[in-house]
Amino acid sequence: MTSEVNSAQAAWWNAAGQGWAQAQDIVGVMLRPFQDVLVEAARQRPRTKVLDVGCGTGAVTRAIAEATGAACVGVDIAESMLAAAREHGKAEFVRADAQVHSFGRSFDLVVSRFGVMFFDDPAAAFGNLLRSTTAGGELCFVTWRDRAENPFMTTASEVAARLAPDAPAPDPNGPGPHSLADPDQTRDLLSRTGWENIGIERVDRTCTIPESLLLPYLSNLGPISRALREAPEEDRGRMLTEVRGAFDGFVHGDEVRVPAACWQVTASAPL
Ligand SMILES: C[S@@+](CC[C@H](N)C(=O)[O-])C[C@H]1O[C@@H](n2cnc3c(N)ncnc32)[C@H](O)[C@@H]1O
Repeated sequence: MTSEVNSAQAAWWNAAGQGWAQAQDIVGVMLRPFQDVLVEAARQRPRTKVLDVGCGTGAVTRAIAEATGAACVGVDIAESMLAAAREHGKAEFVRADAQVHSFGRSFDLVVSRFGVMFFDDPAAAFGNLLRSTTAGGELCFVTWRDRAENPFMTTASEVAARLAPDAPAPDPNGPGPHSLADPDQTRDLLSRTGWENIGIERVDRTCTIPESLLLPYLSNLGPISRALREAPEEDRGRMLTEVRGAFDGFVHGDEVRVPAACWQVTASAPL
């Protein structure tokens, strides 16, 4: 049984999940460098059972299942994400709130690509993930560094604020993509919740997609997609022209290049 405490996030991600599902192939290409980071980590030693937290449409869960042969479980709070994940098979997908769901102490590796920054109570969540991990099992996730180091995301937020000036501004201290951007706070959080051998390394990658997929990507994901979704139909053409212009600096010929500044965080459960 799952009691859901992150109801605002569940509602937000259920709405966002339709766009993620529609654009899952584009997301797969864009975020592939971070999938590779987690697959590489998973292959470092034999794994029996792996949990992918905030698995979304499940690309990382499936890639680790294929690369390691381990039994892989993806957990996500949003049914709309999981519906897309389940279409591909190769892993088990569970709809649950990872902050509170009782998984049992069964995973020798817990991973996440950008799925662990949205908890109302991060200490409860990382404590719960520790209780789901076997003695000596490992945690490995990637998370965004500061907003200022990620200009593509900053541009998207600025454009969305211009397009929808009345939309409520996100709480900079609440759950969100940059909530684990401060490495000292993340180290403290993990150590307070019982994790050991904490490592936090910079990971810088350039994510690329074809230029033709830039507007489909922005129309389906992130704050711009929300502004477009809520705008009157007749305004959308003008808005898309403005959106495209704002991202000119990321376009190089027929390719979009996005510098992505992230942390790779690793830890282990006590023996
Ligand atoms: C930025 S998306 C990342 C999706 C996926 N990991 C990927 O890289 O494609 C964040 C995901 O975390 C999920 N999520 C947010 N809060 C959650 C929670 N409390 N428990 C489980 N999943 C959660 C969202 O539904 C969403 O699918």
